[in-house]
Amino acid sequence: MDIQRVGIIGCGLMGSGIAQCAAEVGCQVWVKEADAAFLAKGLARIHGAWDRGVAKGKLTEEQRGAWQQNLQGTLDFAALAGCQLVVEAIPERLDLKLQTFAELDRVLGSEAVLCTNTSSLSVAQLSPVLAPERLTRLAGLHFFNPVPAMPLVEVIRTLATSEETLATLRAFVQGLGKTAVMAPDAPGFIVNRLLIPYLLDAIRCAEQRLANVEDIDTGMKLGCGHPMGPLHLSDFVGLDTMQSVAEVLFDAFGEPRFKAPALLRQLVAAGRLGRKSGGGFYRWEGEKRAEALPL
Ligand code: CAA
Ligand code: NAD
Repeated sequence: MDIQRVGIIGCGLMGSGIAQCAAEVGCQVWVKEADAAFLAKGLARIHGAWDRGVAKGKLTEEQRGAWQQNLQGTLDFAALAGCQLVVEAIPERLDLKLQTFAELDRVLGSEAVLCTNTSSLSVAQLSPVLAPERLTRLAGLHFFNPVPAMPLVEVIRTLATSEETLATLRAFVQGLGKTAVMAPDAPGFIVNRLLIPYLLDAIRCAEQRLANVEDIDTGMKLGCGHPMGPLHLSDFVGLDTMQSVAEVLFDAFGEPRFKAPALLRQLVAAGRLGRKSGGGFYRWEGEKRAEALPL
């Protein structure tokens, strides 16, 4: 199936990035949010990126106008009825995802493919709320943050996902100009199974006062050639998301390296969620990282 009409659920960090990329390659995109203020904020992030593109001369006003036409926001599941593919990008909570998939199964046509962008949950766990005929069209489509800049997408198959669905998803990912890798339906898939313990270890280093936040980040950035240090990256991902992912991985594998450190829980409890809340390990001025905050 050639995907032309795409629904995105959630217009946060990931949903807005996926919507932006799909609109830029000519898909008709509907983004469904739970909350009008979050919808406005997410759409403003996308329009802001396009405005910056025009200001830098990387994008013409005509292109921006066409992309804007491709993007619509909604608070209503019914608006997604004609979508051929829906990608869910709401918070990493199984209860919320189950409710959403039950709604989607109700409103979508029988041919529509249904994907989750979950970081860590098993895709197959979403099956019980779907009609049995939908199971061949359920898969994971795991994008990376920031979506417009990251070229990888993990495509996750369950035991029921059909070859036809996988071919559709591979072609969709390729059409976005990204590279697809096939990943197993195991918690954390490939990348987060390796990345999350590293980020959690960096938080444990900060907790144990091995070094200050900037030095831990500078160490890994300059010493290992990473584009950003692990505490910077944790703020970038969102500390609430990190905590949820760690809980799922620890629950699945029971290994201490997947356990959420106390410092991570304390930061989340204090509302320091990283870039999205204006402060985590660092203070953030919108998209811009400022100084490290006291721990
Ligand atoms: N949103 C959208 N696009 C962005 C962006 C953002 N926040 N930040 C940068 N970009 C784009 C820029 O527009 C630019 O694109 P163009 O070349 O088309 O202009 C490109 O990225 C490079 O930007 P810069 O030169 O300004 O920035 P940089 O060289 O410092 O790179 C970065 C920025 C790509 C974010 C880089 O620091 C990086 O790769 N960091 C690591 C990101 C990472 O590891 N992500 C994975 C997180 S884990 C995950 O996503 C999985 C999960 O389930 C938790
Ligand atoms: P986020 O908190 O930035 O955004 C989630 C959005 O979903 C919010 O805007 C919220 O209002 C909205 N929402 C909540 N309930 C909803 C509902 N029932 N219907 C519609 N919208 C709803 O989260 P995020 O970082 O974009 O993460 C979204 C998903 O993507 C999670 O499963 C996460 O694990 C995964 N993910 C995150 C990253 C990352 O780096 N942050 C990377 C890859 C995958």
